[in-house]
Amino acid sequence: MKNILVTGGAGFIGTNFVYYWLNKYPQDRIVVLDALTYAGNRGNLSAAEKNPKFKFVHGNILDQPLVESLLTDHKIDTLVHFAAESHVDRSIHGPDEFINTNIVGTHTLLKAAKKIWLDENPRPHRFHHISTDEVYGSLKSDDPPFTENTPYAPNSPYAASKAASDHLVRAYHETYGLQTTISNCSNNYGPYQFPEKLIPLVIINILNKKPLPVYGDGKQIRDWLHVDDHNLGVDLILNKGKIGATYNIGGNNEWTNIDIVKTICNLIHERYPNGTSAHGNHPQTLITHVKDRLGHDRRYAINAEMISSALGYSPTESFETGIRKTIEWFLDNEDWWRRIMDGSYRSWIAVNYD
Ligand code: NAD
Ligand code: DAU
Repeated sequence: MKNILVTGGAGFIGTNFVYYWLNKYPQDRIVVLDALTYAGNRGNLSAAEKNPKFKFVHGNILDQPLVESLLTDHKIDTLVHFAAESHVDRSIHGPDEFINTNIVGTHTLLKAAKKIWLDENPRPHRFHHISTDEVYGSLKSDDPPFTENTPYAPNSPYAASKAASDHLVRAYHETYGLQTTISNCSNNYGPYQFPEKLIPLVIINILNKKPLPVYGDGKQIRDWLHVDDHNLGVDLILNKGKIGATYNIGGNNEWTNIDIVKTICNLIHERYPNGTSAHGNHPQTLITHVKDRLGHDRRYAINAEMISSALGYSPTESFETGIRKTIEWFLDNEDWWRRIMDGSYRSWIAVNYD
């Protein structure tokens, strides 16, 4: 049985992780620590809060005494660290929060874990750090996909802050013997994704008959993975991963942005063939090429051979089924995204895209 502290559990991937884990391992206890930034939504966890094995704590990973007390009071043996500032465009407009949360916040967690798990009362433990393929930088069209040995070359403030946090986690393992693992995953999509990211933004803008902003020529490539398949990889690493190791997680599913946008348009058009979602026209008429992102990485792709061969990882969701389910989720959960759009999301869009 595990007692797990999940940081950032009210965000997109963290929320999905909490439901994945409570469903698969009902004997385990989960404590979520989340600061509820613009990206965190306690309402995501309302079903989990009915479960006596679950507890939500509103707090910041920068608060070391709080983290130490959670590790002690809840006899935590496993920490899964999702909390982060996660949006590249926001990091370009204002990097400070990314440095604070992603670097200093991760270091605060490491210090607390070292104190409680190594210094005060040594015991078996696991610190799993959730990271991203963006730390590896950008690939050319004919480059092989990123492996765990690809040199780090982060290009945005977000990617640089995640790279720094990876190095700190690795250093705490090498220097102090903290029992760490790291995963670097490609682009996720699925339920509860905050609608500033490409896939939910496009779905919602089609439903609202708003322009679909495609940065630059739209030929940038991302490697898309359903969020449950990311969490499946984390599950395998927590249960079978080698201490001190890093694993890449990906779906072998490269798409250009423009093709993703057109595919979503076509799928929503199938649902509303008379064009009620786009002023009576096909949603593709809403596609609008806009100024490119600064320092925009051209291509990401993950080689997931190591986690596949060492831990038996294989994604369960095809993109065809996963994207259809995701569109259905957004259609069924209009209240969720409308409430979000009434808040800070709307002011961000107003400043940056309108
Ligand atoms: P998100 O932005 O949806 O959620 C982040 C969560 O962290 C929110 O609930 C927020 O309130 C919380 N948080 C932020 N700062 C905090 C702080 N200082 N203290 C406590 N909580 C804080 O992010 P996401 O897309 O779910 O990403 C989760 C993790 O996965 C991140 O570490 C991200 O770098 C990584 N990742 C994301 C993707 C992706 O495609 N979304 C892919 C690979 C890796
Ligand atoms: O690769 C993993 C990363 O994926 C994670 O570490 C990040 O947390 C996550 O946000 C995501 O980063 P991206 O920058 O790749 O995701 P985003 O959804 O912001 O953009 C995907 C692509 O679509 C990217 O090339 C930029 C482009 N884009 C994005 C938006 C929001 C557009 O063309 N138009 C848009 O409006």
